[in-house]
Amino acid sequence: MNAPSAPTLTTPPSTVVVDHPMIQHKLTLMRRTRTPANEFRLLLREISMLMAYEVTRDMPMEMIEIETPLATMQAPVVAGKKLCLVSVLRAGGGILEGMLEILPAARVGHVGLYRDPVSLAAVEYYLKLPRDISERTAIVLDPMLATGNSAAAAVAEVKAAGCQSIKFVSLIAAPEGLATFHEAHPDVPVYTAAIDSHLNDHGYIVPGIGDAGDRIFGTK
Ligand code: URA
Repeated sequence: MNAPSAPTLTTPPSTVVVDHPMIQHKLTLMRRTRTPANEFRLLLREISMLMAYEVTRDMPMEMIEIETPLATMQAPVVAGKKLCLVSVLRAGGGILEGMLEILPAARVGHVGLYRDPVSLAAVEYYLKLPRDISERTAIVLDPMLATGNSAAAAVAEVKAAGCQSIKFVSLIAAPEGLATFHEAHPDVPVYTAAIDSHLNDHGYIVPGIGDAGDRIFGTK
């Protein structure tokens, strides 16, 4: 007899899958067990730079007058709220590096969370956010949106600090995590490079990449 299939979860409407060929190619290289930590880190940095383009695509613009060597012209610059990148420790640091390459003026916050191995609940051990985060757009970073518990807890902290404009960036999301996250924060769009099949009994994304922190830092 076939095993009962998991209920199909619909992808929440606020999910953006960034399926650019270069991102997908680099993600395939990252997934391979044989990819060493130094290459894994570099690929994550490169993908994060490409994701930074997509997550900032809707930033408002304004025209300003500038002088070129030849003429005066009206030229576009980014307007509106400034950015704050919030890295969920420890794996969020892998995305942070690439994002900062593209968004060097962004402020940076950190949320330290670990997963209780039994309940899979998110337990907070560190929080440091910029004082003026309520006046910024926050982009919360965590490569693996697995159960959705850590992602939801991190965004709850950013909201508690007064921030009202928030986006979430992951590398790979599980359908279960997207559903949990969307239920907690329907106002926060999720940008991800892939939505994988499911979570295993230990809360790991299948097929996934394994433990993102271990693969970034070469720990195991
Ligand atoms: N965290 C990881 O690092 N990997 C997973 O697959 C799930 C959570």
